[in-house]
Amino acid sequence: MWWADAVVYQVYPRSFQDSDGDGVGDLAGMRSRLDHLAWLGVDALWMSPIYPSPLADFGYDVSDYTAIDPVFGGLAEFDALVKEAHARGLRVLMDVVPCHTSIEHPWFREHPDWYVWRDEPNNWPSAFGGSAWTRRGDRFYLHSFYPEQPDLDWRNPEVVAAMQDVLRFWLARGVDGYRIDAIDRLMKDPELRDEPPAAEPFGLPLTDEEAKLARIHALNAPDTAEALATIRAACGDAFLVGEIYLPSAKWQPYLEHLDAAFAFELLFAPWDAGALRAAIEATTSGPGAAWVMSNHDFGRLATRFGAENARAAALLLLTLPGAAFLYQGDEIGQRDGPPGESRYDRAGRDRYRHPMQWTGDPAAGFTTGTPWLPLVDPWHSNVEAQRDDPASMLSLVRELIALRRTLGDGLRLLDAAPGVLAYERGDHTVAVNTTGDARPAPVGGEVALGTQSAALRDGTLAPHAGVVAAGRG
Ligand code: GLC
Repeated sequence: MWWADAVVYQVYPRSFQDSDGDGVGDLAGMRSRLDHLAWLGVDALWMSPIYPSPLADFGYDVSDYTAIDPVFGGLAEFDALVKEAHARGLRVLMDVVPCHTSIEHPWFREHPDWYVWRDEPNNWPSAFGGSAWTRRGDRFYLHSFYPEQPDLDWRNPEVVAAMQDVLRFWLARGVDGYRIDAIDRLMKDPELRDEPPAAEPFGLPLTDEEAKLARIHALNAPDTAEALATIRAACGDAFLVGEIYLPSAKWQPYLEHLDAAFAFELLFAPWDAGALRAAIEATTSGPGAAWVMSNHDFGRLATRFGAENARAAALLLLTLPGAAFLYQGDEIGQRDGPPGESRYDRAGRDRYRHPMQWTGDPAAGFTTGTPWLPLVDPWHSNVEAQRDDPASMLSLVRELIALRRTLGDGLRLLDAAPGVLAYERGDHTVAVNTTGDARPAPVGGEVALGTQSAALRDGTLAPHAGVVAAGRG
């Protein structure tokens, strides 16, 4: 399977590359940057949604699943992108949003019975705060996210058939798989019962409102696997990775039909060897982990873990066994930026979505116009300056991607000094120092790659350093 240990590069289309000067990234721009991805050595790109959308949730509110928003281009441009990506050996993954549509999708008007309704709200909170129910006429519709995102009823066979058509549509145009959005929300309790109070911690971060309640009815219903089987049936053997906002112990029914699941326990682990180890241990006790440590919802490596740890975080991400997802900009250690305009940036996530920094110019080579979100700090980190610098983060990430091809199968976590995370990958050993002090590392052989020139000396890891070394620990 091509995806088994693939590196998938996440493109946030609005912010990757603009080609027409309107300040918003687009498909032609993306196509013009494919050489960067090929040079970096990634296997695939996943693009966040590019469908027509009123932008209540920046594209995750889809108003037509089988078209391209004009701001990004059209189907001809999409076809050209897929063709040119394939010509470079890059696979293309789309983002499919099956649990909810935009409230402006014609389905909501034409097929109200495709959605979930109740005479009165129950106690389910929406992921973005407030009740998950909004009144329409004399009834209430369910929205697990914003009110502009009504939830589809996947127990209605017409919904299943319509969404299968959508999945087939893009596969017929050559896409190689899907990242499936918020898939734990696909199936809810058929009786839409109130959630009881929480009896145990959920295992991943929640809003205070959500954390008070158990999460047994509003998501992850027992017949989830049956619904996923219909998705798989439409997709053949295309790669399907699920955004399952559940601890890995609950992945099993999803992995009956999906290939992989984002490992949120690692994404949320603090930069502490013990916590990272516990997350990796939990997640690798079963199959299916797709590693991710940053994305458009939770921020970038250099900000999440601290600029001093960004290189070691990239080394960790890219040396774990299984598919790894790298968010655009993380290869140059790009930092989060200021929040956007609150009327658009309702959940405070524009900080993670500023344009890609290609050059040190004020608009960073992203656009010839006014960028939809300002550039953060192109003078500080940009592709052009880092490309020919062997000591840059970009060079490190590129070398890590090449090196991971040579790492053997399996993973064995090693005992190490406090603050040091260490594991064997086949006949290599990886060690990461999560502290600001020098620490001993259980590595014997020659260093194949380190986060900095003197990362390991006489068996001691430099502060914040990581290494991949030949030989077992
Ligand atoms: C996923 C997306 C996020 C979106 C949400 C609702 O979590 O990654 O950006 O807001 O689903 O579709």
